[in-house]
Amino acid sequence: MNKPKRYLVTSALPYANGPIHIGHLAGVYVPADIYVRYLRSKGEDVVFIGGSDEHGVPITIKARKEGVKPQDIVDKYHSIIKKSFEDFGISFDIYSRTTSKIHYKTASDFFKKLYDNNKFIEKTSEQYYDEEAHQFLADRYIVGDCPHCGNGGAYGDQCEKCGSTLSPMELKNPHSAISGSKPTLRETSHWYLPLNEYENFLKEWILENHKEWKANVYGQCKSWLDLGLQPRAVSRDLDWGVPIPVEGAQGKVLYVWFDAPIGYISNTIELLPNDWEKYWKDEDSKLVHFIGKDNIVFHCIVFPSMLKAHGEYILPDNVPANEFLNLEGDKLSTSRNWAVWLHEYLEEFQGKEDVLRYVLCANAPETKDNDFTWKDFQTRNNSELVAVLGNFVNRALVLTAKYFDNKVPEIKTKTDYDNEVISEIPKIKQSIEESLATYRFREALKETMSLARLGNKYLADTEPWKLAATDMERVSTILAISLQICANITIAIEPFMPFTAQKLRKMLNI
Ligand code: 2FM
Ligand code: ZN
Repeated sequence: MNKPKRYLVTSALPYANGPIHIGHLAGVYVPADIYVRYLRSKGEDVVFIGGSDEHGVPITIKARKEGVKPQDIVDKYHSIIKKSFEDFGISFDIYSRTTSKIHYKTASDFFKKLYDNNKFIEKTSEQYYDEEAHQFLADRYIVGDCPHCGNGGAYGDQCEKCGSTLSPMELKNPHSAISGSKPTLRETSHWYLPLNEYENFLKEWILENHKEWKANVYGQCKSWLDLGLQPRAVSRDLDWGVPIPVEGAQGKVLYVWFDAPIGYISNTIELLPNDWEKYWKDEDSKLVHFIGKDNIVFHCIVFPSMLKAHGEYILPDNVPANEFLNLEGDKLSTSRNWAVWLHEYLEEFQGKEDVLRYVLCANAPETKDNDFTWKDFQTRNNSELVAVLGNFVNRALVLTAKYFDNKVPEIKTKTDYDNEVISEIPKIKQSIEESLATYRFREALKETMSLARLGNKYLADTEPWKLAATDMERVSTILAISLQICANITIAIEPFMPFTAQKLRKMLNI
């Protein structure tokens, strides 16, 4: 696209049924925040949208288990999640939620417009019904024996023992997870978005016109499109969600994956009630979705088809999805409690938000799954943040204090070597920018650190501490240039380590 007039950056709305961990931060929120902070530093017009995804069956299951209402669950985790994001400096312009009034109206109106324009097909099928609980059973509410491995606790959508994807009808001896009774089959009708009708549009839009998307994203889209798309149900028989705004649809709500991405729109409306439309509807706006790889199909196939069906919205320019982060060689898992929870990290490492941001970016799962280990965390802290960044800034400041009473000295005569060092700065700036603009954040961080490496090498080569006795003019120039590099560092590291950047600006009094 031509140079955009404004940016609309979204990051996946996390489910409000548990706190968030390092995998969330590394996969989605740190890269999104780096990108947004970078754009802001260039003076771009950008809005950064976040929020909690508060619908879906797992939330109702958790509520039932704990004997509380789904609203209680999402109230609790929405505030925990929101606080974690604030603590780690994720600089959303808004962090709202899909149980907001505005969202109910926005999602409902969106559905209604598609419904009125005959964009859905209605189909009747047989689904499991719990006669005792008087309700249809979502896939997760049906438990039985796995047809593949015999595991007696397989769910209607998946066997967690052998990993197979299942449909409820495949389960042997199905029973309801709510009442334990044997479910019966009842007819129910639902609305489907005929994704098959969008196949040609999607093929052209992604496979032809977005060849620049990350290989992992492009590849996943291509395999979905090669396999052929099927109509997808956008409604569910459930009492938790946005009610279907159609006569005769009592007891039915929007499928969570239909309403959640509309949450990006709702939250923009909440943030900018009079100004939101230009971000969503003007072709000069650039929409970028930050997500994890499990969300690719919804953001590259389903949501764009919804937007296309609606007709008034722009489509994402890019969806730079990351792969997964593992922890010490093992998959992160909420249910097995195998995670570094953000609120717990801060109990151990108070004031060290940026260390985690740094490590998660340096080791981000940008092109493949990656592993977080405490050993790597320690090494990167000690031999990169302390030995490279901290060491350089510390030496520049301590020497300035010692020889110039904390005042910025003057640049006197410059040598060729000084000029060479100075000329490196704009080159580094350019490569940082090129990497950031193309979503290569690890690379950008490496380039950023090379500013500190440049400074360290400059000090090691010129050894101002040895010159102090004989050539104060030289010392003056060297320290002035070193402080200049420090000042550049505060700008370059801001997107990655905003807390440190601020501390450093304070130390430099800029
Ligand atoms: O995977 C998830 O955590 C989903 N709650 C992401 C939703 S993203 C968007 F569509 F809101
Ligand atoms: Zn199984």
